[in-house]
Amino acid sequence: MTDTVDIAALRQQFPILHQRVNGQPLVYFDNAATTQKPQSVIDCITDYYKLYNANIHRGAHYLANISTEKFEGARDQIRRFIGASLKEEIVFTSGTTDAINLVAQTWGRKNVSPGDEIIVSTMEHHSNIVPWQMLAEEKGAVLRVIPVTANGELDISEFEKLLNNKTKLVAVNHVSNALGTINPVGSIVSKAHQAGAKVLIDGAQAVSHFAVNVQELDCDFYCFSGHKLYGPTGVGVLYGKISLLNEMPPWRGGGEMIRSVSFDKTTYNDPPFKFEAGTPNIEAVIAMGEAITFVENLGWDFLHAQEKILLESTTDALTTIPGLQIYGTSEHKTGVISFLIDGVHPYDLGTLLDQQGVAVRTGHHCTEPLWRHYEVPGTVRASFAVYNTEEETAKFIKALHKSIQLLQ
Ligand code: ALA
Repeated sequence: MTDTVDIAALRQQFPILHQRVNGQPLVYFDNAATTQKPQSVIDCITDYYKLYNANIHRGAHYLANISTEKFEGARDQIRRFIGASLKEEIVFTSGTTDAINLVAQTWGRKNVSPGDEIIVSTMEHHSNIVPWQMLAEEKGAVLRVIPVTANGELDISEFEKLLNNKTKLVAVNHVSNALGTINPVGSIVSKAHQAGAKVLIDGAQAVSHFAVNVQELDCDFYCFSGHKLYGPTGVGVLYGKISLLNEMPPWRGGGEMIRSVSFDKTTYNDPPFKFEAGTPNIEAVIAMGEAITFVENLGWDFLHAQEKILLESTTDALTTIPGLQIYGTSEHKTGVISFLIDGVHPYDLGTLLDQQGVAVRTGHHCTEPLWRHYEVPGTVRASFAVYNTEEETAKFIKALHKSIQLLQ
């Protein structure tokens, strides 16, 4: 707790946290999978349906005007949140996965040719591997992979060796969902640009942890989801430089993405609408804006201080446990701790923790190639959010000791 924010009052804003799970107070440490939602975000969703549900951009009536204004207001708020210069550079998607697929299917299909190379990394989420594999297979292009170092960082000298005049795109995460590592994406962008390649950054695990400025990063594409940012599921953002979005062909056809339709010739709308066919997840977009307001009201100083305390105290306690190994020990990491204990299966540990009210994630965390590299099947992952406390950390460590006794 810092001087500025009362953590008990903050927790009161999250109704889901005040319940017992298997007879114990819930300790929710699965925030990298999804964060819980504050009352303001929940109210925003119900207010939409209670007060101004109407389709956007289409009607000339009172309710349609309110929903359109709030929807487009959220777009501008998100533009400011990530430091983009134009509202037109913010495309709403159903999430990070959808945003990456959009780039693969539009920019990728137009610009990637046989023999071209796409660079990803060993620590990518499947959603930043498979769309590129599919594209590479279709186009006869080649996927190259940046290795990771023993402490779970990208091997930048190997990355530099992979770059060449065939590299069309570098697609890497800003923060690893499995290791917590914060990657040096600014320098990756400048190196990739020197080689003439574009860069897509998967920011799903970054935007709730620190301020992101896409203009400073100079990335070509940046993607994130609402639900890891205290907002709703089923909504996300693709940021793209306007010069690229203008040249990209549309992907999904339908209403809103057109300028004019005839059986002779259909013409397309400008970005971002060119990529937003059909009625979007209106209330989720508006509520994602509310979630950003929640984060901004807390302030990055508080978020950083809270995350540092939780990460350090939990890491210190875990390292005293015999046979426990943490995967991802970079100095630059967010509040994510992936670990294994000798002789203990992660799934068994996760089940016993759940029986004591502690929610963690177990398994490969959608990063199978990473665990293949470490030669383990997956891990137990504890990941923190702003409402977690040191008291919860102590409960987690106690529950962990009890589980180990039962399993070893
Ligand atoms: N990508 C999410 C996670 O890391 C689901 O758990």
